[in-house]
Amino acid sequence: MEQNNNGKMIIEAVDEAIDKFGNNRDEIIPILNEVNRTIGYLPKEALEEVGKRLQSPKSQLFSAATFYHMLSVKPRGRHVIQFCESAPCHVVGGREVWQALQDELQLQPGETSPDGKWSLLTTSCLGACGVGPVFLVDEELYGNVQPGQVKDILSKYE
Ligand code: FES
Repeated sequence: MEQNNNGKMIIEAVDEAIDKFGNNRDEIIPILNEVNRTIGYLPKEALEEVGKRLQSPKSQLFSAATFYHMLSVKPRGRHVIQFCESAPCHVVGGREVWQALQDELQLQPGETSPDGKWSLLTTSCLGACGVGPVFLVDEELYGNVQPGQVKDILSKYE
């Protein structure tokens, strides 16, 4: 995409997020999350734009953007997997499912596939412990996952 279009897209994404949550520093995380969802990640220019609007220091925005799992300062894959690594999921077979995901995708935690299709992330409890092990693919939650099901689940996204 052309630089100008990128710039326009960033401004529009920031406009929309601030319209939605207000020009309010207490809403930094929801605003960043919204921009991240629209663009797919948080480019430096987006952080600068949010900083300008909310009059927040860039360092504060950058630390928020790198601290929260759902935010990313690097481009992510078209599909983002968030695997629950908290204990209740871990003890009901999460470790094996996590291994199956890494083997199937040939990715390490936090990596994006070279074709830009997948990003593999871990997350803390998704609030679905009753059906652990669980992971999200984008917004869709998969529960009671067995390692042998991983391949089939991923193939839905071909
Ligand atoms: S521990 Fe995995 S969803 Fe709660």
